[in-house]
Amino acid sequence: MDKKITEIRENFEKDISAVSSLKELEEVRIKYLSRKGLVPSLFEEFKTLPKEEKPKYGKLFNELKNSVQNEFNAKKTTLESSSGTAARKLDISLPGRRKKLGSKHILTQTTEEIKNIFKGLGFSVFEGPEIESDHYNFEMLNFPPDHPARDMQDTFFINEKFLMRTHTSPVQIRLMEKVKPPLRAIMPGRVFRNEAISAKSYCLFHQVEGLYVDTDVTFAELKGTLIQFAKNFFGKNVKYRFRPSFFPFTEPSAEVDIWWEPKGKEGRWLEILGCGMVDPNVLNNVNIDSEKYTGYAFGMGIERMTMLKYGINDIRVFFDNDNRFLEQF
Ligand code: DAH
Repeated sequence: MDKKITEIRENFEKDISAVSSLKELEEVRIKYLSRKGLVPSLFEEFKTLPKEEKPKYGKLFNELKNSVQNEFNAKKTTLESSSGTAARKLDISLPGRRKKLGSKHILTQTTEEIKNIFKGLGFSVFEGPEIESDHYNFEMLNFPPDHPARDMQDTFFINEKFLMRTHTSPVQIRLMEKVKPPLRAIMPGRVFRNEAISAKSYCLFHQVEGLYVDTDVTFAELKGTLIQFAKNFFGKNVKYRFRPSFFPFTEPSAEVDIWWEPKGKEGRWLEILGCGMVDPNVLNNVNIDSEKYTGYAFGMGIERMTMLKYGINDIRVFFDNDNRFLEQF
């Protein structure tokens, strides 16, 4: 019996190494592995063996069967890849699989658009920190410690001294401390307010601040710049108005509204930004001579601008990260 096993193994080794095509391999399979092949026939003989020999030969037969099967499989794989069967499975005329590319968030797109418009008008870009001190967020902007204007901002305080900035206006101060006039820059960034979340307000949003300081900056220039901006952003036929307002850091102050008339609905004025001439107190706070220099400033909400431009009526969609919304832009 031992001799028989050795013989089958040796012959199989010889046969399989001579195989050079799938057809020849099939012949080897029939000879050794098919139902009536040499290996299964050993298992037939197994039944006739005396009981005490069964454990030994059972083990040997199984070993033989496994190694023959493994070698057969390996040979098959080699032949299939080299004979081109695998290559033929690759149909190069099939359309490719598209990789899904991400895209810029609509707020990023709007910010870039706003930046580009102002760059075209001679503004550079400056940024400041999101965690601010009370000093920059309020004091330097002419909000005295218990000025009622502080109520306009629901602030996330970190401690007595630090807070999440409630607007981008503190970046004006940081810029004026760093750069001597003439200076002209916009300052985009995230701002935070502790407000109840609704379709109209969210706990964080984005603003773009603008500042121009020089020896002869006038309100007329402020108007000219913002009108030009509104025309570039909303289209040249945009209807706008300047309305007197109040901010602690500008005097006089104004708000700009645009006329909004959604299809089939009644039109109305909607505020898009706040602006004004930099208050002399603010200039003095950063050691800019308010006798010699004047300036204008403005600030607008990016979500608001985006909502108006694209007819979006719920601010929360910007932060839901629902692809069905984001993919539209
Ligand atoms: N900081 C104001 C706000 O968050 C917006 C603003 C108004 C900015 C007037 C300005 C400005 O620079 O001149 O509501």
